[in-house]
Amino acid sequence: MTAPKDFNDRMLSLGLARVSEAAAHASARLIGRGDEKAADQAAVNAMRDQLNMLDIKGVVVIGEGERDEAPMLFIGEEVGTGDGPEVDIALDPLEGTTLTAKDMPNALTVIAMAPRGTLLHAPDVYMDKLAVGPGYPKDVVSLDMSPAERVRALARARGCEDGDITVCILERPRHEEMIAEVRKTGAAIRLITDGDVAGVIHCAEAELTGIDMYMGSGGAPEGVLARPR
Ligand code: FBP
Repeated sequence: MTAPKDFNDRMLSLGLARVSEAAAHASARLIGRGDEKAADQAAVNAMRDQLNMLDIKGVVVIGEGERDEAPMLFIGEEVGTGDGPEVDIALDPLEGTTLTAKDMPNALTVIAMAPRGTLLHAPDVYMDKLAVGPGYPKDVVSLDMSPAERVRALARARGCEDGDITVCILERPRHEEMIAEVRKTGAAIRLITDGDVAGVIHCAEAELTGIDMYMGSGGAPEGVLARPR
């Protein structure tokens, strides 16, 4: 689907940056206060207020949950002034509520906007995720490969030893086998306690973050938000 002309509006992109900035500022006041709910609520309120100032006919397709469980920014909520392009919005006002409450890195405010009907409406289930940075051939690694095969394939493509690869994985019991298999290759693992959107994004700048590949299952809505395009 081609993007409608008015969707490529620079002001709209800047507006979206303001929306995420407001949510980040609001929740930043609650960093390290041990209150996940308050941090999330502050981000939700600020994001919703700003979003409703944007000249869009927006519908939240990835949001805070179904209407009966989330009073604001629920899936299906109409946002924006109603003047402007018809768009789908995927958002997570505070991805990493626990990280924020504990003053740990990698909490994010995330929002994506696309022409109506072009964003995946992912339910709140787990999704298998696999990400590498830019510059590799398409399909250099795939979900069909075993974790060890992915490490080997990426090392070959990078022209390095398996042991030079660093993989980021969420530390969860469901990932124990995957972690053990990756360890056997000699690759390093950056274990994270939460925040797989940041884990995926870190692959985009491997030379800065040291993370070559992200793998593992996590929230499907976060999977849509982390997908670069
Ligand atoms: P928060 O609920 O603290 O924001 O955690 C978000 C997150 O860590 C995501 O990054 C990840 O996709 C998901 O939770 C993992 O879910 P689970 O904790 O059930 O493994």
